[in-house]
Amino acid sequence: MKKILITGASGFLGWNLSQQARTEWQVYGTYFTNAIEIPGAVLTKIDLRDSSALQELFREIQPAAVIHTAAASKPNYCQLHPEESYSINVTASLNIAHLCSQYAIPCVFTSTDLVFDGQNPPYRENDPVSPICYYGEQKVEAEQKMLQVYPRTAICRMPLMFGMTPPTATTFIQPFIQSLRAGKELNLFSDEFRTPVSGTTAAKGLLLAVEKVEGLLHLGGRERISRYDFGCLLAEVWQFPSQLLKPCHQEDVPMAAPRSPDTSLDSSKAFALGYQPLSLKEELSAIAKYL
Ligand SMILES: NC(=O)c1ccc[n+]([C@@H]2O[C@H](COP(=O)([O-])OP(=O)(O)OC[C@H]3O[C@@H](n4cnc5c(N)ncnc54)[C@H](OP(=O)(O)O)[C@@H]3O)[C@@H](O)[C@H]2O)c1
Repeated sequence: MKKILITGASGFLGWNLSQQARTEWQVYGTYFTNAIEIPGAVLTKIDLRDSSALQELFREIQPAAVIHTAAASKPNYCQLHPEESYSINVTASLNIAHLCSQYAIPCVFTSTDLVFDGQNPPYRENDPVSPICYYGEQKVEAEQKMLQVYPRTAICRMPLMFGMTPPTATTFIQPFIQSLRAGKELNLFSDEFRTPVSGTTAAKGLLLAVEKVEGLLHLGGRERISRYDFGCLLAEVWQFPSQLLKPCHQEDVPMAAPRSPDTSLDSSKAFALGYQPLSLKEELSAIAKYL
């Protein structure tokens, strides 16, 4: 089997991707602070900001493709730590594109729907970017610079994601479930809309991008939904009392990073390529057996 390098395998998406990729690829994953084992995958500890360690990793593995999911992935952290987050989100990503160009191999980058301000949804690939937080700005800079150094890069803009995780990572639904199980009320935005998908679906989209995509690709789900309505759906699937869910507004909860109201993605390009997100109810029902 050909070798694929997956950065950030200890993270939520990299871990899901490593499981999915195993059937077609010999998986080489990386972690940094959270050591992890994934059956059938070879894991390496690396700080991806160290460019000579990164070069050495490519020399040792000789990958046939790379999917780069490692990142400072939390917008509030990036807003408060702009320099630390820049070095992994922009500089390391650019170094990876350089190396993929040298090795002439497919390079897939995980960007975000937060490259948009959320005023003109749904967003297609060629809509102008308009980030309103540092995290979004960093991803835009990485997208543009990676495409400059290696135009074959697939820039996959990921939506809000949820799903199964390794012990080293989490998604927004795990704390929801914990609170609802404890009988605690949950306040959720009724004025923030996204097109979410599960980690499994997102991973399938990224593997499709390795084979078929150069340039921009949106990997959103088929349903536009508010955080509050998503919570209601989750409560229905897990059979939690719906009275525990309370709608609130973005302005009620001040956070370090400004929040886009509606970054719903139009992912018809990916759908035409064979990307097939399930309905959110189906996605959640599949996960409910395990969480
Ligand atoms: N989750 C979402 O809803 C969402 C939405 C849109 C886009 N995205 C994008 O999708 C990608 C994956 O997100 P995620 O939620 O899976 O992130 P995550 O769970 O926070 O995982 C981040 C990963 O990056 C690694 N990492 C961070 N700094 C590193 C460094 N200096 N050197 C090496 N590895 C480093 C972490 O390793 P350790 O933990 O071992 O330190 C971890 O494996 C990111 O590019 C993110 O921006 C995510």
